Amino acid sequence: MKERRNLKEIYDEIAEDYNKIYSSEENLPHLDLVDEFLKRLKKGKTILDAGCGPGCYSKYFVKRGFKVIGIDISKKMIELARRNVKEANFFIMDVKNFKIDKKVDGIFCAYVLQHMDKEELKEYIKCFKNNLREGGYLFIILYRGKGEKIIREPLNPKIVYKIYLYEEKELKEILEKEGFEIEKIWKKKNEDKAALHDKEIIILAKLKGI
Ligand SMILES: C[S@@+](CC[C@H](N)C(=O)[O-])C[C@H]1O[C@@H](n2cnc3c(N)ncnc32)[C@H](O)[C@@H]1O
Repeated sequence: MKERRNLKEIYDEIAEDYNKIYSSEENLPHLDLVDEFLKRLKKGKTILDAGCGPGCYSKYFVKRGFKVIGIDISKKMIELARRNVKEANFFIMDVKNFKIDKKVDGIFCAYVLQHMDKEELKEYIKCFKNNLREGGYLFIILYRGKGEKIIREPLNPKIVYKIYLYEEKELKEILEKEGFEIEKIWKKKNEDKAALHDKEIIILAKLKGI
């Protein structure tokens, strides 16, 4: 097995291939569920796309009348996002350390938090809470299961890394502890060849307050 490398480097390397697949709207997973998130926000409101990659979901949000801020640790991903979605603002930043001037109305985080262990995940959720207005919505997509899994990156099998799987119960506990109310939980199978695991969990939650 090849030595594990840091995420920033890995995503810089696969950014172009990732973009080729997911820049077409028809390849973006779970848009029907994403629409449930958008329905709860008014047009013109601001969504933070946390770990936005090449901005595929950001583009979907902009096309539906939302303002978008995208952040990602990968420079290459951010370059592609800026090229793909001129109307949004993108920054190279870690999802855990970001701080924005004005709290956002919605935070969207798809296929990012599988890289975080449970302790890190708690920190990320805390950071989301601190940057979301009261009554705002959080939408996350994670891989479902127990413990961790070593995977070969489908877009470049030479790359090997660890991902963390999560069960409904532990996610609910973490979110509720930070003041989120769970509105919906979906459990899905993912047959996408580029997916890292075949079972997914998708959560739509509201930050209490209003
Ligand atoms: C599988 S891609 C998903 C991209 C996008 N969310 C989507 O669903 O199309 C994961 C992205 O998360 C980014 N990422 C991983 N860890 C991150 C972190 N700590 N802060 C910001 N971005 C991160 C990677 O650089 C990569 O672009």
